[in-house]
Amino acid sequence: MARVSVVVLISGRGSNMASLLAAAAANELSSARIVAVIANRPDAAGLRTAAAHGVPTAVVDHRQFAGRDEFDRALREAIDAFAPDLVLLAGFMRILGESFVRHYHGRLLNIHPSLLPSFPGLHTHRRALAEGVRIHGCTVHFVTPDLDHGPVVAQAAVPVLDDDDEITLAARVLAQEHRIYPLAVRWFAEGRLRVEDGRVRLATAQASDAALIAPQTDAARVGAS
Ligand code: GRF
Repeated sequence: MARVSVVVLISGRGSNMASLLAAAAANELSSARIVAVIANRPDAAGLRTAAAHGVPTAVVDHRQFAGRDEFDRALREAIDAFAPDLVLLAGFMRILGESFVRHYHGRLLNIHPSLLPSFPGLHTHRRALAEGVRIHGCTVHFVTPDLDHGPVVAQAAVPVLDDDDEITLAARVLAQEHRIYPLAVRWFAEGRLRVEDGRVRLATAQASDAALIAPQTDAARVGAS
């Protein structure tokens, strides 16, 4: 299978990037290889993690550019120097312009810490708690010019517990982010993702009627097999 080169964009901690590197090391990404990690902040902690794994890193500091177009152009040049087949936004905290997004059409994925289309934007866990939702989660999607929008590749749902705060809920969601992003990359590398009418079709998906019911009380378990 042809190698799929992947560039990962980060802004900070980089735990999703680290989970992708771990998955690659465990041979769980099919033919996908992470060829570079690029940050928009020189102090992004994830840069050190990437370097420790022997992955080339680069910084395109948004503060060095007069405007978004100039930044987008420089970022695009830095990315394209690695000729990637796939670009991953992994905690990348800059909004990218329309021409950038179009340039990577069909090969730009993002991970977002909510079950989109609920809670696009920032502070998703705080907003989920404020709304009192019982189920929250994360989404991997193809990127379109609209913020946190685009064909959904994978989602993972977690229960919101009565005593959750932003920190406990974020941790529960993050653990699932670390599962579904590598999965999505593997499917991409295997050529199994097809976008049709704005929806992702996953070739050879297993049918499943599994449901997460929250809260889990005895009554919620009635009828569960
Ligand atoms: C994650 O929750 C991701 O979904 C969001 O930003 C956070 C980044 O975390 N877009 P990390 O840098 O991957 O640890």
